[in-house]
This record gives sequence, structure tokens and C-alpha cells, in this order.
Amino acid sequence: MSPARGFLPAEDPKTDLPPALAAVAEFGRALPHLLSEEMLRKRFRALIESELPLVNLADAAVEDRETARAVYRTYAFLASAYVHAIGEPEVARLPQNLAVPLWFSAWRLGKRPILSYDGYALWNWRRKEPLGSIEFENLENVQNFVTLPDEPGFILPHVEIEAEAAPAIIAIGTAQQAVFDEDPLALEAALLGIANAQEEMLDTLEALPEHCSPEVFFRDFRPYIMSFGDERRKTGIIFEGVKALGEEPVFLNGETGAQSSIMPSLVAALGVKHAQTGMTDYLAAMENYMPVGHREFIRATRRGPSIREFVRRIGVPAVTDTYNECLEEMNAFRRQHLSFAIEYIHKRMPNPIGTGGTPFMKWLSLLAEETIQHRLPL
Ligand code: HEM
Repeated sequence: MSPARGFLPAEDPKTDLPPALAAVAEFGRALPHLLSEEMLRKRFRALIESELPLVNLADAAVEDRETARAVYRTYAFLASAYVHAIGEPEVARLPQNLAVPLWFSAWRLGKRPILSYDGYALWNWRRKEPLGSIEFENLENVQNFVTLPDEPGFILPHVEIEAEAAPAIIAIGTAQQAVFDEDPLALEAALLGIANAQEEMLDTLEALPEHCSPEVFFRDFRPYIMSFGDERRKTGIIFEGVKALGEEPVFLNGETGAQSSIMPSLVAALGVKHAQTGMTDYLAAMENYMPVGHREFIRATRRGPSIREFVRRIGVPAVTDTYNECLEEMNAFRRQHLSFAIEYIHKRMPNPIGTGGTPFMKWLSLLAEETIQHRLPL
């Protein structure tokens, strides 16, 4: 967590791995090329099994957190590429040269051993102009699965949205403090900050299709960010050589924006209560894939004084109006996002139910509806 950057790391993500991991870094650099053609993809798993050395991370100078994140990012990409290599048969096991370091680096960060939103977006960018701002035009990814520009075109708007959310995340603390101090003016200013930040986030979200085609997303790189195993069929992946897991297959959820901490923080701050559905259960489960500090922030926000109750109690029209504006912005973001979920996924699925076999599109729409229903009367 950082005051200037919200849920993005305070310092730009590390791009290099320690020298002991040179061979792993080389695999990371070659990955988009190795997955680019059918012939290369066919040999990808054999190449990983034979050429990727088994590194003991405890000996590989991975002491600081930033390096651990870079190491996790590279192994997580390689592991997802190995499991989901497009056009190849399903695998049930991750070989130990991938499984052990992935598990160890994730464990070191308090994370689950699969590529999640942090490794894919939050910790996976560099600024082209080092002193320039964190916005799409000035960003590139450190690691990708494919060579196609649509993949950074999908990931980097998430990074920009996280940067734009930072003032809102900071304003949550200010707003709760204002409630504690019974200070309507300070609360109104903080709520305005939340509404304005959400407006910027929406602008960036709306521009996403300029950078990423729905066909390319669905066909060429979405397969790599899917889950390990299938929750409904109760299947998972065996992590070879990881004693803590034994020979038990582990199911792990794939990467999704639902692992971003922005929305749950705002939902908690504004006191939006959603009826329990498969979606809310899923969203609660996605918190387990967020960085530890982000989870703590969301929980602290939930425990904090209720902004909504205070706004209702004081009944000051200007404050109520600004509170309602925050909800309207959230609703607009969720509606725009729903249209992408339909365009990029739902329309393209042979059996159009959600990723987990549940009616996610209906539930995404319900989240938006419930948001707007929380408006308070003026
Ligand atoms: C083409 C772009 C996108 C598509 C196709 C998409 C798709 C989806 C889908 C299908 C879900 C349902 C749950 C799941 O399957 O994990 C979801 C949830 C979610 N996504 Fe996205 N998403 C996109 C972009 C984004 C962006 C840029 C953000 C911003 C950080 C985001 C944030 C969320 C959030 C917060 C949820 C949880 C539902 C909520 O609280 O409203 N998504 N997304």
C-alpha cells in the first residue's frame, strides 16, 4: 500500500531476477516467442522439463520483497504457460523445477501458488519514461504470455486504473476519520475525492477496447490465466516435489480483476451490502488471492466507522448528494465492465455460463443494481 499509488507498489516493480536465476529469467524473456507458434508450443513442455534448472530459492538471494515478487511473477507465468499451453492436452502435474520455486516464492509472499492479479498486473509493469506518469501510453509489461500487443492492451489499463484509484483509497481513511470526528465538511471533501477518482477510472476502462480486441483476448491469451483444475469436477494440479502439499491435487482460481482490492475497498467504505449469491461467495474467495496488506486494508475498512450511517443520520443534502454520486460512479463502472464481460467472454462461450459454471453475467448485473439501490434520499 502506498499513499501516492494505492494498491500499486510504492516503487516500480523489479524487472530483473538475481544472477542465480539467469536461466529462469531467460525462459521468461523467451516465453512469448515460445508460445507464439504451434510447433514451438508443442515442444514447450518438454523444453521446460529438460532445460529449466531446479533452483533452491532459499540459496538464491531472494531476501527482499520486491525481488520475491519478480521471482514469483516469472515462475507463475511459466507455470500457467506449462499447464495451459494452447492446443496441447491437459496436464495434471506441475514438474518440480516449476512447482517447488513457484510454491516457495508464493509462500514467501503469503500468496497462493498461481498467477493472480498482482503478478499479472500490479507487479508487472515498467515506465517507458522513468519520470513519466503511470498511464497507459507510458507503460509496458515486464512479462507477457504472447507477442500480441492486445495482451499489454488488456493488462496495462488495469495498472492505470489502479493508479487512478489511489486518491480514492487514501480518501477512504480520510472519510472514516471525518465520521469519527463528526466533521461533515471533511467528509464531503473526501467523498468528492472518491467520486472524482472513480470518474477517471471509468474513462480508462471505457478506452480498453481501443487496445485489446475481444477475439484476441478470448482466443490467444485468456486461456493462460485460467484456473489450475476445475472446481466443479473437483480436479486440480499436483505440485511435484512440494512436501507441504503432498501428492494431493490442488485447485487454484485463475487470474481476474475480481482479485483487485479497489472495488471491495470502495464497497466496504460506502457500506454497500450485497445479497449473498454465488458471486459474493466467489468475491470473498478472491480476497485470498490478494496481497496480504491489501486484504488487511479491506478488513480495516469494514471495521471502520460507517460512512453511510453518518451521512444518513446528519441528513445534510450536500453530503448525501456526494455520497450518492460515489454510488452512481460505482454503478457506471460496473455497468461498463459488465458490457465488456459480455463482449469479451459471454458471447464467445459455447456454453455461455460463467467461468465457474455459474450465471456470472446475471450476478455482475445484480452487483450494479444493488449498488444504485443504496442511494440515500435527499
Ligand atoms: C475486457 C476486460 C474485462 C473483462 C472481460 C472482465 C471480465 C470479468 C468477469 C467475467 C468477471 C466475473 C468474475 C470472474 O470471472 O472472475 C469480472 C469480475 C470483476 N472484474 Fe473484470 N473484466 C475486465 C476488466 C476489468 C478491469 C479493467 C477491472 C478493474 C480493475 C475489473 C475488475 C473486476 C472486478 C472488481 C470484478 C468483481 C465484480 C465487481 O465487484 O463488480 N475488470 N470481470
